[in-house]
Amino acid sequence: MAKKKFITTPIYYINDKPHIGHAYTTIATDVLSRYYKSKGEDVFFLTGTDEHGAKITEAAEKAGKKPKEFVDSLIPKFETAWKNLNIEYDQFFRTTNPDHEKIVQEFILKLKENGYVEKKKYEGLYCVGCERFMQKDELIDGKCSDHGTKPKLQSEENYFFLLKKAAKDFDLTNVIKSDKFKVKPLGRKNEILGKIDNGLEDVSISRTGVEWGIEFPDDKDQTIYVWIDALINYFSAPKIYKEEIWPPDIQLMAKDILWFHAVIWPAMLLAYGEKDLPKLEFAHGFFTVDGKKMSKTVGNVLDPNDLVEKFGADAVRYALLREFPFGEDGDISEEKIANRYQSDLGNGLGNLLNRTISLIIKANIKPLLPNVLKIDEKGHVGDVTESKTGSFRNAWGEKIIVKSGEGMSFRDFVSESINRIAFDVGLIEIWKLIIVGNGGFDKYKPWELIKNNKQEQLEEFLNTEYEMLWCVMELIAPFMPDTARKMKNQLESLEPKPLFPRLED
Ligand code: MSP
Repeated sequence: MAKKKFITTPIYYINDKPHIGHAYTTIATDVLSRYYKSKGEDVFFLTGTDEHGAKITEAAEKAGKKPKEFVDSLIPKFETAWKNLNIEYDQFFRTTNPDHEKIVQEFILKLKENGYVEKKKYEGLYCVGCERFMQKDELIDGKCSDHGTKPKLQSEENYFFLLKKAAKDFDLTNVIKSDKFKVKPLGRKNEILGKIDNGLEDVSISRTGVEWGIEFPDDKDQTIYVWIDALINYFSAPKIYKEEIWPPDIQLMAKDILWFHAVIWPAMLLAYGEKDLPKLEFAHGFFTVDGKKMSKTVGNVLDPNDLVEKFGADAVRYALLREFPFGEDGDISEEKIANRYQSDLGNGLGNLLNRTISLIIKANIKPLLPNVLKIDEKGHVGDVTESKTGSFRNAWGEKIIVKSGEGMSFRDFVSESINRIAFDVGLIEIWKLIIVGNGGFDKYKPWELIKNNKQEQLEEFLNTEYEMLWCVMELIAPFMPDTARKMKNQLESLEPKPLFPRLED
């Protein structure tokens, strides 16, 4: 059996319901997964929750619940949010799965056998919000810049993963520089390499004071550090679900956790004896909401479910990926989503579909169905490159070519943008077609063609618009599966219905 394409999100801490930051990475991963599925590839899309550790323990205590009871109570919130956002994952992973716990213990034992685990005394500043020890130079006024809290001084005898030794034995710097294990974007990869050059430290992988965790093998007094347990989720999933998917092809996350994924993770795998490393670690940027870091105290935490209720899943998916380049930091807000809804979606796409279909009915034309489409119930489309060329004739038979990258067809350009995880570039490109489509109405004034009885030109015009809409529908399907499905229905039935109804204030 051929290996499936294995695509992952981070597993999110389940100390609260999911917020829009978690939704961002999950939507992006869903777009990739749907895109590759539409190309006929076998894809396995894994997401889930990180359920052990001090952070969860604290949250459970606050809620007056036992940790397991607490995390169980939050699972439906994640499932509902992902369902509302049309996330089509193949497996939802929970680190409290007993099979996972066993695999993690075996993993640690093997690291130990291979000579990469040692017991040492350690003293350091621990940030519970980050679930990691902090270096002094990372702190601002003695506080963690991400959580605004003072890390606690912790002094324990713990087991350590000998990261320095592993990095040397396996030439980690060169692994990260190689094509075998890609880290992107380039700027972030260089940051990682620079940090390695400044010197690595071994990683404490056990805790004495944290009961809520997987028991350390051969030492009942210690539990396994939550980050080690969490990273291994990607490794246990193929075993637990008996899927031929190892190694991961694309691992998405934000820049906050790239160090764990780009340095500690491959070092652990190599020390374990695993030769096949993940192919790509991709870190996108971090966004603020209304210009501020999202936080409960500021009160600017956006709930994906509220947004879906206001704008619909597809508008949220679109606005988040369109608003700023994937990979860079940015800012979002409800207002920005509303603006995208009104302009790009309502006045842009919705208007084009509506006016085209209305005019087709009025002119009593039977549009030529492009001979391209394979679109299934879930909004997956067939291979877009096998369809027409990506150039469209205007009403007078000249070719309109939507200019994309040098020597590349429009469709190929969009595909290539998704392949290199540049979602905004792909979306901007698709919207060029929508702008051309709407512009055609001003330029060729079809209502005058009707008045002047220019039936042939009118047909030519409407067929062109119709074909553009098919093309848009195919290309947006991974981004906006519901919209693609609705567009297809309307294009086939020729019954117009607003795609993006006006928002109430
Ligand atoms: N549990 C760890 C991950 C373990 S993976 C083996 C963790 N969880 S988390 O709940 O804090 O999620 C962090 C991730 O959530 C980020 O890497 C990113 O994917 C997403 N984001 C959270 N807030 C975000 C923004 N404000 N902006 C962009 N992404 C955001 O770390």
